[in-house]
Amino acid sequence: MALVNTKEMFKKAYDGGYAIGAFNVNNMEIVQGITEACKEENAPVILQVSKGARAYANHTYLVKLVEAAVIECPEIPVALHLDHGPDFETCKACIDGGFTSVMIDGSAHAFKDNIELTRKVVEYAHDRGVVVEGELGTLSGIEDEVSHEVGSYTRPEEVEEFVQKTGVDSLAIAIGTSHGAYKFKPEQCTRNEKGILVPPALRFDILEEVSKRLPGFPIVLHGSSSVPQEWVKVVNEHGGKMPDAIGVPEEQLRKAAQLSVCKINIDSDLRLAMTGTIRQFFDENPSKFDPREYLKPARANIKALVSHKLRDVLGCAGKA
Ligand code: G3H
Ligand code: 13P
Ligand code: ZN
Repeated sequence: MALVNTKEMFKKAYDGGYAIGAFNVNNMEIVQGITEACKEENAPVILQVSKGARAYANHTYLVKLVEAAVIECPEIPVALHLDHGPDFETCKACIDGGFTSVMIDGSAHAFKDNIELTRKVVEYAHDRGVVVEGELGTLSGIEDEVSHEVGSYTRPEEVEEFVQKTGVDSLAIAIGTSHGAYKFKPEQCTRNEKGILVPPALRFDILEEVSKRLPGFPIVLHGSSSVPQEWVKVVNEHGGKMPDAIGVPEEQLRKAAQLSVCKINIDSDLRLAMTGTIRQFFDENPSKFDPREYLKPARANIKALVSHKLRDVLGCAGKA
């Protein structure tokens, strides 16, 4: 199967009550770890490339790595997506350069400007068979003092006009997730009986209101790493310092996947598994220096993590 866009993936996911995993890729081992898991679990997948990934690895290398994965995994649908496209030019370069899906992240712009920019990308993309993800609402960051104020969430009353005027194929919304490994401050959390921090619930009321206004339309969740505490522990036990790293509980993502959320973005969890593996390896093998010896278990642990997400969180295992 050649690279596909996400149209059919999303339709099936919406109707089937599951979500497609969108995993960020930056190098060969990450591409291999993700796609080997998807092949084994018979799951469709979105491999996504950020502006930072293009700057790090080079556009052509990333496209060719993903094309290699498609050759190695002919049974599963694979989409190549631009994550957080910052402007028209970057989206155009990806559309012209082999991507099947792009995100134009106009969320920092005023509503009217976001519509204008997004519509321009949609016009260019649709003429070339490429689909577009837009965003409304801003994802909070822990430094952002207004992050959990109502103002940063998506305003449901804006979504119909945005979708209708832009022609986007999917919409990322802000309901309380955020990027990175520090999604909530400890003081926002409660503690369960084991003393583990439990973050506040996502705003499912906003998701439901958006879905009511956009029936059948695919919604996207960014910032959806769960920051597995077992990996935080490995990192911290082997020289790392990630105090109070905390993510979105997996049950909440599972619930979102059963509703209108068709794409769930995960990057930080892969970074944690890779970094934890390599830290532990160096701690236990200080004299070793062959990169293959530490990248091999890192790749295997990314694969295990992705398999778990496909089966137990996204619900897309067996849906290829
Ligand atoms: O949304 C952010 C993704 O985790 C990509 O991160 O910009 O560091 O590549 P990056
Ligand atoms: P995480 O940092 O939660 O993995 O989010 C990744 C993401 O949203 C990429 O766009
Ligand atoms: Zn994101």
